[in-house]
Amino acid sequence: MPNQNTQSHSQQSKKMTMESDIVNIILEDHKPLKRLIAIMKDSDKDQAERAEAFAEFAPLLISHAKPEEQTLYTYMKKEEELREEGFEGDVEHQLADQMVEEIMRTEDEDLWSARVKVLAELVEHHIEEEEEELLPDFKKNSEPAERMQLGQNFLMLKTKMLEQGGLDSPHESKQPSSEQKH
Ligand SMILES: [Fe+2]
Ligand SMILES: [Fe+2]
Repeated sequence: MPNQNTQSHSQQSKKMTMESDIVNIILEDHKPLKRLIAIMKDSDKDQAERAEAFAEFAPLLISHAKPEEQTLYTYMKKEEELREEGFEGDVEHQLADQMVEEIMRTEDEDLWSARVKVLAELVEHHIEEEEEELLPDFKKNSEPAERMQLGQNFLMLKTKMLEQGGLDSPHESKQPSSEQKH
C-alpha cells in the first residue's frame, strides 16, 4: 500500500501510543485523587469540606482501582518479575475498600475524621509507590504494544463502570438499599 506520508503518520501514531499507554492513563487518573487526598488528610480543615472531598473521592477511587486491577495488576501477576508487586497492589486496594465502607458507616465525628485521614495517607502512599516503583518496573518488563492494549482495556472498563452508575453518589448507597450488597 502506498504511504506518501510515512513520517507524519509514524509521528502521529507515536503520539497516540503515548496517549493510550496505560502508564500515562494511570498517571493522569491519579491527579484528581491526589487533589482530594490533600484535603482529606488535613484534619485542620473544615469537616464539611473534608466530607465533600471524601464523597467525591470514594467513587473516583473505585472507578480507578477496579480497571487497574483488571488490566495492570492482572498482567503483572502473570509475569515472574512483577508478580509480587501486582499482589501488593491488590492487597492495598482491598484495604482501601474496607476503609471506605467503614467510613461510610461511621457516625462519631472524631472517629470519622481519624479514619478519613488514615485512608488518605494509605492511598497517598499507594499512589506514590505505584508511580515511583510499580509503574517503572512494569514499563521495563512490557512492550509498548501491550501497554497500549492494556490502556484501551483500562479506558473501556472505566467507561463501563461509570455508565453502570451507582458511583456518583456514595451518600445514596447509605440509604435504605440493603440489596446493594452483593
Ligand atoms: Fe492502585
Ligand atoms: Fe493507581
